[in-house]
Amino acid sequence: MPGAYADIYRRSLEDPERFWAEAAQAIDWIKPWDRVLDTSNPPHNRWFRGGQLNTCHNAVDRHVAAGRGSQTAIIYDSPVTDTQSRLTYAKLQDLAARCAGALAARGITKGDRVVIYMPMIPEALVAALACARLGAVHSIVFGGFAAPELAVRIDDSRAKLVITASCGIEPTRLVPYKPLLDQAIELAKHKPEHVIIVQRPQQPAELRPGRDADWADAMAAATPHACVPVDATDPLYILYTSGTTGQPKGIVRDNGGHAVALNWTMRHIYDMAPGEVYWAASDIGWVVGHSYTIYAPLLAGCTTVVYEGKPVGTPDPGAFWRVIAEHDVKVMFTAPTAIRAIRQQDPEGKHLASHDLANLRALFLAGERCDPDTLQWCERQLGRPVIDHWWQTETGWSIAANCLGIEQLPVKAGSPTRPCPGWDVQVLDHAGHPTPRGDIGAICVKLPLPPGTFPTLWNADQRYRETYFTEYPGYYKTGDAGLLDEDGYVHVMARTDDVINVAGHRLSTGAIEEVLATHPDVAECAVVGAADDLRGQLPVGLVVLNAGANTASADVSQQCVELVRDRIGAVAAFKTAVVVDRLPKTRSGKILRGTIKKIADGEPYKVTPTIEDEAVLPTIASALAGAGYAKP
Ligand code: COA
Ligand code: AMP
Repeated sequence: MPGAYADIYRRSLEDPERFWAEAAQAIDWIKPWDRVLDTSNPPHNRWFRGGQLNTCHNAVDRHVAAGRGSQTAIIYDSPVTDTQSRLTYAKLQDLAARCAGALAARGITKGDRVVIYMPMIPEALVAALACARLGAVHSIVFGGFAAPELAVRIDDSRAKLVITASCGIEPTRLVPYKPLLDQAIELAKHKPEHVIIVQRPQQPAELRPGRDADWADAMAAATPHACVPVDATDPLYILYTSGTTGQPKGIVRDNGGHAVALNWTMRHIYDMAPGEVYWAASDIGWVVGHSYTIYAPLLAGCTTVVYEGKPVGTPDPGAFWRVIAEHDVKVMFTAPTAIRAIRQQDPEGKHLASHDLANLRALFLAGERCDPDTLQWCERQLGRPVIDHWWQTETGWSIAANCLGIEQLPVKAGSPTRPCPGWDVQVLDHAGHPTPRGDIGAICVKLPLPPGTFPTLWNADQRYRETYFTEYPGYYKTGDAGLLDEDGYVHVMARTDDVINVAGHRLSTGAIEEVLATHPDVAECAVVGAADDLRGQLPVGLVVLNAGANTASADVSQQCVELVRDRIGAVAAFKTAVVVDRLPKTRSGKILRGTIKKIADGEPYKVTPTIEDEAVLPTIASALAGAGYAKP
């Protein structure tokens, strides 16, 4: 309906408490809240203070109670194992209750942390829901992270128990998770007491007596556990994401606001009705997987698809279109990088044309800036709305989108459209004043943030306040720079910090630099995100060797690449470390990373007047050119 978006948006900002209290009616509460929004300890605003609910009940049990137990909750589609299966809501309830029982039998109770390190298999969702059922706090770690990253997360969350699988399956190799987990536990100061392992036939793991249990045995022996009432403000999960240092930030999500907001988004942003199939092709290790593979579709009574495969190569660039057609997917969500990968291999959409996509209503994209070319290619191929929307691990759902369930606004390629209801998006200048329309600045959100966002960082209240709320008092600093245009459309241009986005995955260049600096021959280093046609950005390292370093430059480069893979993981896609004599710096010693990035991208750059020695720039350009970068 024309004007519907403007009306709902205005109402959401004029009276957020009323707006979200109405949305909360769609959730089952064990005890109603005392206050819709508690702002007594800003910026740690808390939604639905005093309310009690259970997220697993809302995602599973209530649909069974409403008579929809025989509806499919989860479709598992795994081209890498050539398997497909389905779980009904009734079966999912049984499995979540059993898994909760298995956790309880190992001493897990409300508030305890459980790390989940698993591939894209239905058991991963069961594990998360089982934690929610008990009020335990899960922390899912992406399978592409190496052991030291897993260890940091085990230590920071002080997880009592880890749920894993014996292996993950990448198209060209098996990833044995168990040795990685053993190594991580070895490295961690905090030792989890129990491990539960899904044994996969492709590569079963050896169990350590006393600590490890086979998932199948644990489930068979378990007594099903009921849903435990938790406070709306109790944490549901911690999801670690990259910050500016090697120490990841534990984004905390609470139960009440999360259930209310995510359930609301399914209808209003994605235009989904209960019973329909929704597919977010994201690993559950990322926020998109948390919100839109696990929780939102189930909260809304939809069917969710768990896809263990890639956009290309499993077996071909028609894989996504096959899944949509075979499972009658109504709305799909993926990252632009996946579409670029498909387009590279199937530019004319021949694979797409061979599948019946008649029932697909829309494709949503997020995770990185969507270049207009990719969006338009996709629109041409699909002939239906392709919606770019913008969000972050911190926010849990989209800050800006074309809300199909409210009113479809005209698409402007390159913009994720307008702020979603609940989000008072403003662009601020250095002094904290709103910029004129069309001018670039820091994209900020006026407080309060809507429900479903992050009330704090795990064990790091001060870091939460300092990182996000101090520079622009009264606002949440998104860390993205951009503008609002004359129609109120948001344009997200770049990060303002040293976070880069590699294939829709968020990485910290600072964390990679910390790893490179541990190489004994490296005196100093700089990592930048260079533009990449497929992955959006790729990390590129420049390293300066210690005087008298014995190792040959080529060997140091190779060792640096291996170090990052071993310490951070394959997901960093770090393939280039170039040895240079010097790094470009200001006279005060600050490394000019912005200039290095421009050189790597072959873009014109300005020589800053404070540069220590401008003669270093051509040497950087030629070193990067030797590695395939710096092409005009
Ligand atoms: N477990 C273990 N290793 C993993 C992994 C996992 N779950 N996921 C990826 N990796 C490995 C890959 O095997 C690869 O290893 P390699 O260096 O030995 O080849 C490495 O991590 C880099 O992975 P990636 O950048 O994903 O490369 P890819 O070739 O496997 O796939 C794309 C490229 C573009 C197809 C893929 O990145 C993609 O689908 N991206 C979409 C991202 C996404 O959904 N983001 C979520 C936000 S919506
Ligand atoms: P993550 O926390 O991993 O989801 O990454 C969040 C970051 O990805 C944002 O801060 C943006 O920099 C970028 N991002 C996500 N979605 C979009 C989008 N639609 N347009 C532009 N940038 C995006």
